[in-house]
Amino acid sequence: MPQDEGSQRDIAPQGPADEPPQAVPPLPLAHGPLNDADAAELRALKQQIQSTVGFYCEGYKEKCLRRRIAVRMRARGVHTYAQYAKLLASDAAEYSLLVDTLTINVSKFYRNPEVWEMLSRHVLPELVERPDPEIRIWSAGSASGEEAYSAAIMVQEYARENDVDPDRFRILGTDIDRDSLAFAERAEYTDFAMTDIDPDLRERWFDHDGTYRLRPEARRNVRFATLDLIRDEHPREQHLIFCRNVIIYFERAIQEQLFQQFHDALVPGGYLVLGKVEALFGSQSGLFRTVASRQRIFRRA
Ligand SMILES: C[S@@+](CC[C@H](N)C(=O)[O-])C[C@H]1O[C@@H](n2cnc3c(N)ncnc32)[C@H](O)[C@@H]1O
Repeated sequence: MPQDEGSQRDIAPQGPADEPPQAVPPLPLAHGPLNDADAAELRALKQQIQSTVGFYCEGYKEKCLRRRIAVRMRARGVHTYAQYAKLLASDAAEYSLLVDTLTINVSKFYRNPEVWEMLSRHVLPELVERPDPEIRIWSAGSASGEEAYSAAIMVQEYARENDVDPDRFRILGTDIDRDSLAFAERAEYTDFAMTDIDPDLRERWFDHDGTYRLRPEARRNVRFATLDLIRDEHPREQHLIFCRNVIIYFERAIQEQLFQQFHDALVPGGYLVLGKVEALFGSQSGLFRTVASRQRIFRRA
């Protein structure tokens, strides 16, 4: 799991500095087999989450889901799924905290810089040569917008250097998490989001006064929308799809379904970029050919 296991959400509360550190309470029911009663309670809890907030738990890896639910259970001091279900029913704010925990939305500008380098050098030149009047880029699982806006900066830079009209590019960022998308719309970021971006690009594209505010030229061809990758219809006719650090959390069958959907969402010869620890597998790997294996860039066959 990438940034999952060490998430800051999993840190036990600290006592005052002069007190000895508190022992971290164990994560309830996070690991190991469940007895029949706990398994039934977990099924009921998933059902309740799904019917109340529409979050489709079944698509996610059970191990991952249990660990995340356990983090919230520990935070609220409950020890069984039934107790947690009851707490959720009486505390709507807890649903929002739970969904935040389940969807982990850490991102950065130019995350894995070598990927962006490869895209600028080898993928954009090919895309701009096409006769298509519009070039569509989709950041699927865009979290708070860093990936979609990195794509916007990349194409603006490319357009300037190569005398291409930047308005040919249309960038869509989608996510299941509305709060993240609201953050993306504000386009204001902290130092953390800036750790991977080249300082020259950062200077050119952000105003800095405590926070980093993305300049309007980089925002004008980007829009955001809510979309559940597992259950909603996907956009079509895309030229480049980013889906990084999202499918890692999904069950294998869902991953396979998504590879097929990404294939169908791309124009022939369109590109798919996965996260550093994600891979195409099974029959779905025949749908794409590898362009750059280390950078996880694939092309619709
Ligand atoms: C770790 S972030 C990845 C952000 C960005 N792609 C990157 O690599 O920096 C994972 C994102 O996937 C989103 N996500 C999780 N399940 C999803 C689903 N079923 N549909 C759409 N987005 C989902 C989360 O809300 C979160 O914002």
